[in-house]
Amino acid sequence: MSQSETARVTIDTKRVISEISPLLFSGFAEHLGRCIYEGIYDPASPQADEYGLRADVLAALRELNLRAMRYPGGNFVSGYRWEDGIGPKDQRPRRREMAWQSIETNQFGTDEFIRFCREIGTEPMLAVNLGTGTIQDAANLVEYCNAQTGSHYADLRAANGSASPYAVKYWCLGNEMDGIWQIGHLDAVDYAKKASEAAKLMRLQDKSIELVLCGSSSSKMPTYPDWDRIGLEICWDLVQYHSMHYYADNSDDDTGSYLALSAELEDYVDTVAAVLRTVKAKRRSKHEVYLSWDEWNVWYKAREATDLRGGWKEAPPLLEEVYNLEDALVVATWLNVFLRRADVLKIACIAQIVNVIAPILTTSDKLLKQSIYYPLLMFSQMARGNSLDLLVEAPRYETKKFGDMPLLDVSSAHDAEAGAHSLFIVNRSLSEPTPLEIRWQDIKPTRVRTAQQLAGPDPAAFNSWEQPNRLTTRPIDKPEIVDGVARLSLPPLSFTALGVEL
Ligand code: AHR
Repeated sequence: MSQSETARVTIDTKRVISEISPLLFSGFAEHLGRCIYEGIYDPASPQADEYGLRADVLAALRELNLRAMRYPGGNFVSGYRWEDGIGPKDQRPRRREMAWQSIETNQFGTDEFIRFCREIGTEPMLAVNLGTGTIQDAANLVEYCNAQTGSHYADLRAANGSASPYAVKYWCLGNEMDGIWQIGHLDAVDYAKKASEAAKLMRLQDKSIELVLCGSSSSKMPTYPDWDRIGLEICWDLVQYHSMHYYADNSDDDTGSYLALSAELEDYVDTVAAVLRTVKAKRRSKHEVYLSWDEWNVWYKAREATDLRGGWKEAPPLLEEVYNLEDALVVATWLNVFLRRADVLKIACIAQIVNVIAPILTTSDKLLKQSIYYPLLMFSQMARGNSLDLLVEAPRYETKKFGDMPLLDVSSAHDAEAGAHSLFIVNRSLSEPTPLEIRWQDIKPTRVRTAQQLAGPDPAAFNSWEQPNRLTTRPIDKPEIVDGVARLSLPPLSFTALGVEL
């Protein structure tokens, strides 16, 4: 197919991959840099509400409608003493926080986090410390959050303002314990033994909780994928999810390959999913474990800050990545991957949400939406129901890293009950528009209800405080549907989201 030929997407709504888990549109907030302090919580800001939460940040997060929020880390959690962060604020200790070498004031802790989650309508997803923390600390935190009053930690929660339990359902068994940088790093067997005992105690506190085991901290780790296999073999029956982490980069400045990254992301999912199948078979088990991609995003420009760390300051600006158009297109293809692999992927948390490698940046009184905010918003609003297996026929282009790749990257969601159907299309072409024909085989949709697009000529363009709306999704002309066929021309370097009425 030559580059100028018409691409075709053929849709049959009976070709269902899986129901889309709403938790695929979740976030991650860590005590790191200015994510919590100055980002979410800033009593000194004119934007602060009566609890010190930033009203403008809450509003943007409500719009994003993230279904779960992972907290409090990240690397931070592996040295965190959760009891420092509860009770009267003037009695909470200031600590030297070792992961990011910052001063942790503990003015924001578990109770403030739960309030924040309630404010934005998201499920809390708490990580326990399996670095310096003990299995008893982990079980105590479950008691603090989920037990009815009448015992020490539940009564402490009541004394701190909430007689009713928080009913936290999702719990992560540590963070990136395969990484030598992790406080209290363990090898696979030692981690799995500790995680299984922590899981046992946490479940003795509340058997309804769902647990996420630490997988490899990226597909580039030397212990990948054996780390995953060993952990799962030991912990299989105790956990519901297994984690994946990955940060994308274009440090080679090779936009063609960068936009084709979904090849690598899908390969990563395939490999870890194969490990799940293998362990399930070896265990002769009927139990299912799904994937939780609980750290994912682009992160490479603000990496040097990781070495400088926080200089033992409060809320130092760290990892404040500025996102451009090509990053937003990679984020859109990543979300496409989540839909295409919705059979095994059930949770995904963009890392992170405010200031630190985030879709939102703040000053003391202003908020900026970065380019990656918009694809996340489109998917979070529109990807409902079932994910569909599409036939995509598109012209191909040559990449240095992944060889021959299709110009278009596409996914689709279909919600028959709600009468809604969506398509998400990334055009990877750097210079030419791509004509596209969309053909529905088994249904005759009436019209395109919404058509939104993020596009531009310069892959390096970004939003700034001076030009905050340079990159945003804009409405485009809605293509007509005639006899089950819609035709449109996709500009180069574009992401298009179509909402179709059935
Ligand atoms: O999200 C930033 C850091 O990246 C997290 O603390 C850690 O889990 C990962 O390495």
